[in-house]
Amino acid sequence: MKRRIQATFTLAAAARLGGCKTAQSTLQNYGPASSRISHLSWFMTILFATVTIIMWVLIWWGFAKRRGTLAEHEPIDVHGGEVWIAIGGLTVPLIILTILFVLGLKLLTDFPIHGMRGGPNGQMQTMINPEIRITGHQWWWQIDYLNDDVSKQFATANELHLPVNRPVNIEVESADVMHSFWIPALHGKVDLIPGHPNFIRLEASQPGEYTGQCAEYCGAEHAKMRLLAVVEDPDSYEAWLEAQRKPGVQPTTAEAIAGQQVFLGGPCSMCHQVRGTIAGGRVAPDLTHIGSRQYIAANTLDNNNAYLEAWITHAQSFKSGAEMPDLTEFNGNQLQELVAYLRQLQ
Ligand code: CUA
Repeated sequence: MKRRIQATFTLAAAARLGGCKTAQSTLQNYGPASSRISHLSWFMTILFATVTIIMWVLIWWGFAKRRGTLAEHEPIDVHGGEVWIAIGGLTVPLIILTILFVLGLKLLTDFPIHGMRGGPNGQMQTMINPEIRITGHQWWWQIDYLNDDVSKQFATANELHLPVNRPVNIEVESADVMHSFWIPALHGKVDLIPGHPNFIRLEASQPGEYTGQCAEYCGAEHAKMRLLAVVEDPDSYEAWLEAQRKPGVQPTTAEAIAGQQVFLGGPCSMCHQVRGTIAGGRVAPDLTHIGSRQYIAANTLDNNNAYLEAWITHAQSFKSGAEMPDLTEFNGNQLQELVAYLRQLQ
């Protein structure tokens, strides 16, 4: 039995280390902030359940022990009632609410969202120098990796990479309507508000992949505004940054070379950017390294040939109302070439 339990734990650990995506659940915590939120939630749930049980016991007790009725015009003995009101109606709620207020405040100062963080002596300071800026669009996430050295800045989309065990300051804003950035395994929600940048500090305590979701209704396809956080050890993270900073790979196969011509000559380049080419559109996801991403269409479709073809020709069937139109002008060969080009943009 003991051996079986051990085997189960080993398997579970292997699955986790193997990069399996964790459930998108507030009950599965892989960061200090989400752990604290979870602990506070459990504390509140148990506390309120206890209060509720005590209330019902008291109500039952009041009924069971009642003496006389109003109908009999007997004076009701309320002796001692003032003490009950003072304790149950004032003192206890005051203590409980004070504890919750302090715990909630501490949570916000330790794990800041909305532009505040705990300073060296616990004072509140405005957060500065975000490393990453995330911009919400209907219905995808633009992710800009910032750097004092402008040549090291780059943009990507829908797949957020983070180093493990290091807090990362992220500025969030919106390009159109209100969205809400939420990766339940790592932290609480933070709103993306047009014209009003907010901040969140994300820290993950374990390498792995954690899914996220827009958590504020932002239009018809709000549910399909998903994202993926990939948490890596520092070396892998640096290697990923280095690879992403490079311009798009120049195609070498005949098919991909033809595909690049289709891409640059067609409507794609008007909205999408592939760094190192004349495609400089900035209103749609940056495709410089689209081949390295696991998903397309804001983390809703696997990144493979079939879905890429389907997305290019029938985006509106997957996400109606999205800015990406159904592109029907390509013939079968052109479509295959185009997909071959996109896939090799690693
Ligand atoms: Cu964006 Cu909901």
